[in-house]
Amino acid sequence: MSQVLVNDTLQEWQATATYWTKHHNTIRTMFAPLTRALIKQAHIVQGQSVLDVAGGAGEPSLTIAQAVGPLGFVMCTDPIAEMLASAEHEALSRGLENVRFWQCTADTLPFASDLFDVAVSRLGVMFFPDPLAGLREMLRVTKQGGRIALVVWDRSDLNPYSYLVTQVVSRHVPSSPIEPDAPDAFRFAEEGKLAAILKVAGAIDVNECVVKFDIAAPISPEEFWDFRSEISEVLREKLRNLSGDEKERIANEVQHAVREFFPGGHRRFPAQMIIVSGTKRS
Ligand SMILES: C[S@@+](CC[C@H](N)C(=O)[O-])C[C@H]1O[C@@H](n2cnc3c(N)ncnc32)[C@H](O)[C@@H]1O
Repeated sequence: MSQVLVNDTLQEWQATATYWTKHHNTIRTMFAPLTRALIKQAHIVQGQSVLDVAGGAGEPSLTIAQAVGPLGFVMCTDPIAEMLASAEHEALSRGLENVRFWQCTADTLPFASDLFDVAVSRLGVMFFPDPLAGLREMLRVTKQGGRIALVVWDRSDLNPYSYLVTQVVSRHVPSSPIEPDAPDAFRFAEEGKLAAILKVAGAIDVNECVVKFDIAAPISPEEFWDFRSEISEVLREKLRNLSGDEKERIANEVQHAVREFFPGGHRRFPAQMIIVSGTKRS
């Protein structure tokens, strides 16, 4: 196992990478409006150099590579080699020549100080074991006066994409409460929490905004359940020891619960996320 995979969270992401690779097109489509909002908050324009931390199977890196154009450059990083291989494969198939890939964690970025115009992370910072250390590193490698922008989930109860599934699953599989600062998708779903850490890390002009959009993709409720139950290690773990009958019952209940969010047979969940952004002091 790679030296990088030193904690449980990374081992979970290692196990999840196969499914993020399998579903990368759906993931790209469903979060495309979020990526556009991130690009806006990060003030990304043509010709810039951009660092993406926790780039997963390639987003937002590949969309940003198009936004910065041939004179710009993106460094897509993630601790999981399979995620990066998937991202690189997609970049090649799209003919993108201005993006590179590097396996590393957020808290030890192998780049010189003051290198990038912008540093971003989409849905990554919640999983850093030490978010303050990760944000300090992101600021270190950003040029003075450069931007940093981070996307995190807002509360689960504001996101039917999340709560409709967890409500059904929790009726069948008991779960213990999550520690407030444990790595988890909703760790920063609280007004001001991530912004406060970004300020402590040294950013100025720190701003927080809520992004409302539709998580949309051309998939059916049945495909949605396959997708959701595969891309989440938390769900895979809960389902792992259930009988075939129990799994089928949960699948049917979830498909029933989400049906109103599939107008015309295609998925469209109203969603709410948070973008925290700031500037590196000059
Ligand atoms: C929810 S995925 C987000 C992937 C991608 N940015 C996206 O929005 O589709 C979270 C990513 O965080 C990465 N990750 C987990 N722990 C990390 C750490 N300590 N440093 C950097 N990335 C990490 C995982 O490997 C995974 O690819």
